[in-house]
Amino acid sequence: MSDSASLGVRHQSGLEPLTALTRPAAQQPEWPDRDRAGSVRSALATSPPLVRWEEVRELGTLLARVAEGELCVLQAGDCAEDPAECGAADVALKTEMLDVLGDIMRVGAGRPVVRVGRLAGQFAKPRSRAHETVDGVRLPVFRGPMVNGPEPTPEARRPNPARLLDCRASAERSLRALEALGRGAGCHPRERVWTSHEALLLDYEGPQVRPTGEGGHYLSSAHWPWIGERTRQPGNAHVRLLARLGNPVACKVGPEATAEEVLELCTLLDPRRIPGRLTLIARFGAGAIGRLAPLVRAVRGAGHPVLWMCDPMHGNTVADGTGLKIRHLDAVMNELRGFLSVVADAGGRCAGLHIESSPLDISECAGAGVTPIRGPRYRTLCDPRLNLMQAVAVVAHWQPITRPGVQPSAT
Ligand code: PEP
Ligand code: CO
Repeated sequence: MSDSASLGVRHQSGLEPLTALTRPAAQQPEWPDRDRAGSVRSALATSPPLVRWEEVRELGTLLARVAEGELCVLQAGDCAEDPAECGAADVALKTEMLDVLGDIMRVGAGRPVVRVGRLAGQFAKPRSRAHETVDGVRLPVFRGPMVNGPEPTPEARRPNPARLLDCRASAERSLRALEALGRGAGCHPRERVWTSHEALLLDYEGPQVRPTGEGGHYLSSAHWPWIGERTRQPGNAHVRLLARLGNPVACKVGPEATAEEVLELCTLLDPRRIPGRLTLIARFGAGAIGRLAPLVRAVRGAGHPVLWMCDPMHGNTVADGTGLKIRHLDAVMNELRGFLSVVADAGGRCAGLHIESSPLDISECAGAGVTPIRGPRYRTLCDPRLNLMQAVAVVAHWQPITRPGVQPSAT
């Protein structure tokens, strides 16, 4: 783990420690070159903000309207972004995908859609294991292009802190490309493609926490950071980091989560119960989605105005007969249908959908005529993504149910 005590936050008066980051943190790389990691953190702390506080506040206003039931959210993109795919043409395609999917979602939802990319920062991955064995060689796992390389060699897998700066530069390129498309900073909030990623690497996120100018702090690396199923321990650094941000924040929740844990997260991440402030992203798996019901009821019972989103991808990852990681479209759609009915029955607010998808011609998930096989059309850096046709089918299933007599908690 990195030396979290030395992480800095830029204040008007220079660098000061961010005490939240001195807590234990899961999923952090061991940088072999600690001095270099320190100078990278300093460089990040003095770099300009990628997103401005005013933009983040605008997204917060939109998400408050999601809580009112006026809008819904589509969040989509790569599992791990490729820094080589952050140019103008790449970002134009990703934006077109969000637009097509958002338009379809609007039809089913009957309300306008806030479009959010897993982009301009989605470069680091939590992993279930620290090592893997490839052709008899034990290697550190690939932790995303912000940490190491995907190639199965000891050299590529060596964590390199210079990647933090390279990925920040790629994020900046994506943001400039969005601006050039008229979908970035300065455009109308309803036209905007908002940026989101998992706030995983504290060495990247900590130095990009900035003052809002209104007495608080915000994360300037993305409009909407989330934390994952593997870093949501209430006492740890990731939760405490999100707790002190002015950004709207999200947290993934899986089938192992207890109502007690979820209520603790609500108390820590949204103590003032601000509608739109906290989104919980359910990722249960089609077979376990029923276990979401007691969590939605507990949150509603406690009066938290949480937005519930459905990630029907991460609980449905399986290996095919050859060991290739795939997802079945049927399972993805079953989880989505289950989510809509469970959340409606429990009186929660179905806020939107979170998927891994790509506009490229890929065959990584099974279904809709696709059988994934290793080769040029299976090119994800991490988890299998829906191709456009599959994503259209999934998004078309977003048809929230209104049960007579059950009022969503946030209205
Ligand atoms: C992800 O969103 O890519 C991810 C790793 O999700 P989770 O933390 O839910 O497994
Ligand atoms: Co993923």
